[in-house]
Amino acid sequence: MSYQLTIEPLGQTVEVAEGQTILDACLRAGIWLPHACGHGLCGTCKVQASGGELEHGEASPFALMDFERDEGKCLACTATVQTDITIEADIDPDPDAQCLPLMDYQARVARIETLTPTIKGVFLEIEHEHGDAALRFQPGQYVNLWLAGEAAPRAFSIASAPSSREVELNIRLVPGGKVTSYVHDGLKVGEQVMLSGPLGRFFVRKSDPRPLLFIAGGSGLSSPRSMVLDLLESGDTRPIRLIQGARTLDELYYRAEFEQLAARHPNFEYLPVLSGEPQDSAWAGERGYVHELAVRHFGQDFRGWRAYLCGPPPMIEASIAALMQGRLFEKDIFTEKFLSAADAGQAVRSPLFRSL
Ligand SMILES: Cc1cc2nc3c(=O)[nH]c(=O)nc-3n(C[C@H](O)[C@H](O)[C@H](O)COP(=O)(O)OP(=O)(O)OC[C@H]3O[C@@H](n4cnc5c(N)ncnc54)[C@H](O)[C@@H]3O)c2cc1C
Ligand code: FES
Repeated sequence: MSYQLTIEPLGQTVEVAEGQTILDACLRAGIWLPHACGHGLCGTCKVQASGGELEHGEASPFALMDFERDEGKCLACTATVQTDITIEADIDPDPDAQCLPLMDYQARVARIETLTPTIKGVFLEIEHEHGDAALRFQPGQYVNLWLAGEAAPRAFSIASAPSSREVELNIRLVPGGKVTSYVHDGLKVGEQVMLSGPLGRFFVRKSDPRPLLFIAGGSGLSSPRSMVLDLLESGDTRPIRLIQGARTLDELYYRAEFEQLAARHPNFEYLPVLSGEPQDSAWAGERGYVHELAVRHFGQDFRGWRAYLCGPPPMIEASIAALMQGRLFEKDIFTEKFLSAADAGQAVRSPLFRSL
């Protein structure tokens, strides 16, 4: 059974299968709808529905308030339809978006590397593609991964550059988390996994020539790593700075790689910072949180830069506040929040951003 979904103001119609979300149907048909977390947590994909019936699915009550449901709004990433229906979406064309259609892939786990005590590098070889030669994505985007027999996929950003033969994911262990626990304790080389992608709108707006500041916390290094590798590989010469935050030295991964890149590329500066390293350790580098280092390093003046932030929600919020106090506008700040099911009961939209 399938239904007709009309997307306004585009006036285009796509088919939605029983149980398929509105977002999934649109992205597979090559129609881009605003979205970020893909799991009913952030509210970015909110659309107005009319002329039909739908189920809201696992929409967080903070991402979609009761009064918004009453007004006919829904989250495209969790809503499924029961009749033909029309949605009205805020579709802002972006000259840097490639609008690559969402597709399913089967992959083989080629390697697993312990990057830190809490982060595994999982390297996937795409084996079987449905209609395309490889997983195409824009650096910064993420995939949905099905694992551990879970019905719902989990989101993981791609840490490798598009030029890499393997798709690399950096997966942090979430205490009590089903999929990340399986990745850390059960996943084996050679295992087959299902994924779909690409997803998300976190990618470098390359058409804007301004210098780029990347701020990454924990496994939030994945997207910025893919973006920085891609920019440097493609010979981009604008100033690029990466601030990487970790709690302790053993959690600071890919440091040697970034130091080598900084030595080879005069336009790239790498700034690692540790927030919980014991005072008596051998670490002679920067200490504190990423936003504190950013303020120190830039003298609280970020004018003229564009910032890309990726990691846990509290890190993103603190960094947005620091950047805005340092005179960077909302339109110059892009974020990818690593939300999980634990965020379902909390307000996850930034109070500092009007559009997010
Ligand atoms: C766009 C995006 C990109 C991401 N990229 C990355 C990445 O590159 N690397 C990375 O490490 N992480 C990334 N994440 C985060 C990652 O998706 C989560 O850590 C992951 O989904 C956790 O899966 P899990 O099965 O281990 O945990 P789950 O089993 O889903 O549980 C997560 C946590 O929530 C708790 N919990 C479960 N259900 C509920 C509930 N109903 N209410 C309250 N608490 C609950 C659990 O106890 C646990 O602490 C990304 C997230 C997003 C949205
Ligand atoms: S993308 Fe739908 S709620 Fe985040």
